[in-house]
Amino acid sequence: MSSRKGIILAGGAGSRLYPCTYALSKQLLPIYDKPMVYYPLSTLMLSGIQDILLISTPRDLPMYESLLGDGSKWGISIRYAEQPKPEGLAQAFLIGREFLAGKPSTLVLGDNVFYGHGLSNLLQTAGDTRNGATVFAYRVSDPGRYGVVEFAQSGKVVSIEEKPAVPKSNYALVGLYYFDGNASDYASEVKPSARGELEITSLMERYLQEGELQVKTMGRGYAWLDTGTPESLVEAAQFVHSLEKRQGLKISCPEEIAWRNDWISDEALSKLAQERANSDYGRYLATLLSSD
Ligand code: TTP
Repeated sequence: MSSRKGIILAGGAGSRLYPCTYALSKQLLPIYDKPMVYYPLSTLMLSGIQDILLISTPRDLPMYESLLGDGSKWGISIRYAEQPKPEGLAQAFLIGREFLAGKPSTLVLGDNVFYGHGLSNLLQTAGDTRNGATVFAYRVSDPGRYGVVEFAQSGKVVSIEEKPAVPKSNYALVGLYYFDGNASDYASEVKPSARGELEITSLMERYLQEGELQVKTMGRGYAWLDTGTPESLVEAAQFVHSLEKRQGLKISCPEEIAWRNDWISDEALSKLAQERANSDYGRYLATLLSSD
């Protein structure tokens, strides 16, 4: 079991998706055949992380608890913590201070979907780094919506800017961050930005100052989708639908990952399949046992 801990940030206002998110948390909306939160949860599980904290609003936490429980059905531990107001991504490390107890951690945003050949290796390699921070840059056509990283010719990071009006590169930072055990201490020194949030980019800047920030590129062979707008949500659903239909394999199915990682037995998977027998999802779980 990895000693690295995982945090899923699944709060936020989801205002770009109103009215869909007016009464329901964004990360509970479906991306094709499963709730959005299954995707970031799968990302952590693919990294080998079994000790997870899910942070959401006081209104929405009970629904996450009824969906995911304590994680034991998937051979993991899931705990829950409230973020009363969306005061920024870096706040996760203040809310999660006790949970983290000074251990290295991986933070994933609840609305980020990752897919691609070799993803588990990429994530596990980042997870093996004990010191400093590792984040991933991904080429996008609209970098101004994200944290943007500027590289020197040598590949060294020159600057990181949150949602810049004039982006200095096309490289956006994805919503997946690996930090060493200093994250909570550093986060407590972050001051709110002009928009009143504790920015994750400020935390990265701190690691950059310490000479301990690694920015790796997530190449074009990977898919990084964010799902914060109606259009990106339907595009993500179409992407998942197309690939799953073509291959007959599910993307980000936590039951499958747990079983392939040997975190749950054949019997446990069979029980989960039976509980969902009436759905394609349940039938898929049953086929795993017969096809492998
Ligand atoms: P955003 O997409 O930046 O914000 P949002 O989800 O509130 O949506 P909108 O801009 O449409 O109002 O957030 C990225 C992810 O991080 C998303 O999964 C929500 C989560 N989040 C929190 O949980 N707490 C926070 O304080 C912030 C800023 C975001």
